[in-house]
Amino acid sequence: MTVTKDASVENMPCSFVIFGATGNLASNKLLPALYHLEAAARLAESLSIIAFSRRDWDTASWREHMREVLRDKIKGPLDTPTFDRFLARFAYHKGDLNDPHAYHALAERLPPESSCSATVFYLAIKPAEFGAVIQNLEAAGLNKPRGLNRVVIEKPFGEDLESAQTLNRLLHQHFEEQQVYRIDHFLGKETVQNLLVFRFANTLIEPLWNRNFIDHVQITVAESGGIDKRADYYDRAGALRDMLQNHLMQLMTVVAMEPPPALEADALRDEKVKVLRSVRPISKRAVHAHAVRAQYSRGSVEGQIARAYQQEDNVEDNSTTETFVAAKFYIDNWRWRGVPFYLRTGKRMPRQTQIIAIRFRQPPQQLFRETPFESVAPNWVLLSIQPEESMHMEIHVKQPGLDMGTRVMQMNASFLKTDEQTLDAYETLLLDVIEGDRSLFIRFDEVEWAWRVVDPILKNWAVEREFIPTYPAGSWGPAEANRLFDSDDQTWRNEL
Ligand SMILES: NC(=O)c1ccc[n+]([C@@H]2O[C@H](COP(=O)([O-])OP(=O)(O)OC[C@H]3O[C@@H](n4cnc5c(N)ncnc54)[C@H](OP(=O)(O)O)[C@@H]3O)[C@@H](O)[C@H]2O)c1
Repeated sequence: MTVTKDASVENMPCSFVIFGATGNLASNKLLPALYHLEAAARLAESLSIIAFSRRDWDTASWREHMREVLRDKIKGPLDTPTFDRFLARFAYHKGDLNDPHAYHALAERLPPESSCSATVFYLAIKPAEFGAVIQNLEAAGLNKPRGLNRVVIEKPFGEDLESAQTLNRLLHQHFEEQQVYRIDHFLGKETVQNLLVFRFANTLIEPLWNRNFIDHVQITVAESGGIDKRADYYDRAGALRDMLQNHLMQLMTVVAMEPPPALEADALRDEKVKVLRSVRPISKRAVHAHAVRAQYSRGSVEGQIARAYQQEDNVEDNSTTETFVAAKFYIDNWRWRGVPFYLRTGKRMPRQTQIIAIRFRQPPQQLFRETPFESVAPNWVLLSIQPEESMHMEIHVKQPGLDMGTRVMQMNASFLKTDEQTLDAYETLLLDVIEGDRSLFIRFDEVEWAWRVVDPILKNWAVEREFIPTYPAGSWGPAEANRLFDSDDQTWRNEL
């Protein structure tokens, strides 16, 4: 994203190894993103890609698999020479993640250190396998050259504060921090980066961006889908660990952070950490006032009947895992003290929607109170990440006519011109990994502070396993989520 890169990792990698190459993430995100980078001529000619998988395949059958997988995931018409060039980069490496020999064999097929500066190892695998892979990489000497070889780790990083610290200790035994890329793909989204530009490149906005003018902030990430085939992971994780602790809290830090002294990885991340450190700790007794959880029951989403969470394949009949979470946080610093940040996310909600909604305060003087429009609705700034990347500002204008009245006008701006296409977050992030730019990756102290914030909620819910409220699939969540609001005139903003 930025122009500044870590000097010690200037050298471009010549190998990119994907562990879990046959998995969901690799098929839906990584391979399409790499192809689009190929099409945009952003991959160095010398870069080769190795698919690491346990299936009994060879390079030819892997390339066939890629044709299958990528057929309907490529944007625009498929360009055969580009596709052939892309396929030719790939080699298949058969191995089990837990088998040390597979890593020694991998080391042998990578170019010798003298001829290649770096290798990227992308861990597109279940979190339970992270530890084994990290140790096996080290045992095969693949953590070296230190500072150059990189390891990319998917979320979730740990399942609570303690396990995240344990995983991090293990990582640091074998890799230096500058080799580690903890990915949160929300940070690769254009709107999120645009938020930085919106805030810090427009003098108009920044003076208003504080407790004097902002009433509250809402961040909603609604998914219409259920859990697909991910029950084994999801039923242990739940919405708080799966989405809120990482994606939503990252969005919150970008909304709330101070301007960094420079657009550099550590400067940005320092500011984000300061936000997380300023979040008011939630005491055990206050958990109910700050967090609401629920699980979807049978309902209808986008015209289709959706079964209840407990009826999903491989979910226990009496599971109390939350598929919805809403939480309220206060950031106790000069800029934000007293401004609630409401975060909510859920599955089986009416639509795929991701909105950051900022509500401004009422004007100090109700000049129009003698008119029929005595209660003037507050201003909103709405940043939409999904379904489209856009910004909306709601302001008041005079209603045309003889009488004095106001109405709300929405100023809508799409971030894209009509001939522009939005980049997938993984395209941005994979290129950053290759180019050694860590600005949009998470430093461990960010992960650690985010876990600290949500840990009291997790601990409380862990002992309250008898009952969980439900919401019908296709609704915006349980009515209980409304009790988080600090005042009666605050309500969830579901639409742009
Ligand atoms: N899916 C997403 O959209 C998404 C989004 C954000 C983050 N993530 C994160 O990305 C990671 C991967 O998720 P996923 O959904 O892609 O998981 P997945 O579909 O279950 O893929 C797991 C991969 O690991 C391989 N694997 C498992 N055990 C192995 C072993 N012993 N030896 C060799 N290969 C083995 C599997 O190979 P087989 O095909 O042979 O089983 C498969 O390729 C997770 O950390 C997840 O939290 C995923």
